[in-house]
Amino acid sequence: MNRHQLVLTNDNSLTVKDLHFEETFHSLSGAINESNYVYIDQGLKQFEFYEHLHIFEMGFGTGINAFLTFVNKPAYQTIYYESIDLFPLAKDFYPMLISMVNPSQKEIYQRILEAEWNATTYISKKFVVKKVMADMQNYYFQKTLHLVYYDAFSPKIQPELWTTEIFSRIFEFLEINGVLVTFASSGVVKKNLTAVGFHLERLKGYPPKKHMVRAVKK
Ligand SMILES: C[S@@+](CC[C@H](N)C(=O)[O-])C[C@H]1O[C@@H](n2cnc3c(N)ncnc32)[C@H](O)[C@@H]1O
Repeated sequence: MNRHQLVLTNDNSLTVKDLHFEETFHSLSGAINESNYVYIDQGLKQFEFYEHLHIFEMGFGTGINAFLTFVNKPAYQTIYYESIDLFPLAKDFYPMLISMVNPSQKEIYQRILEAEWNATTYISKKFVVKKVMADMQNYYFQKTLHLVYYDAFSPKIQPELWTTEIFSRIFEFLEINGVLVTFASSGVVKKNLTAVGFHLERLKGYPPKKHMVRAVKK
């Protein structure tokens, strides 16, 4: 049986349900809108003035965060986008996912989705993607990070991905003023991020979530 199933969300964009965890990748109130709000508006846009940016994403999933990062970054900015996933989507899902974006942007999304795993791919001169099939529990960084999109399944489903052990590994590799953004804001997330040294900003969440978290390394 396939592990994944496409699901239509209320902004007419698609998300995926993981049938093993019984959890969707995005809010059913709008996959693309949620990704834009949490990771682009509250993450990427804080770094507009950086000429070079290293982003790490926990959970590549549909690749929509990488795609939205590409289309929203300032033209002068070079981004190295590193993303991991332990259970990548089968290629059969790509055509349906690609069909939901603007015709002029389909080719970019396709190139991001089709970029090889465990390799580094130039999507453009100023956007490099490194997709790695790996488990966050034993993933180690090689370069310092500016921005982390922490897009794991919720702590209720995968508590092992929200630990102080993982957060301290990220904290250690973040530059000063580096940021981790996540849709989550439960007590354990805030407690563990604070415990490893992050300063937390509690922001308005993407509905129906009341809050989300931006964690800063000061
Ligand atoms: C909430 S979804 C992320 C969705 C993705 N960012 C997107 O926008 O489509 C969580 C992702 O984490 C992946 N994942 C689950 N356990 C993992 C682990 N231990 N290490 C790395 N990735 C994992 C899942 O396969 C899934 O793609």
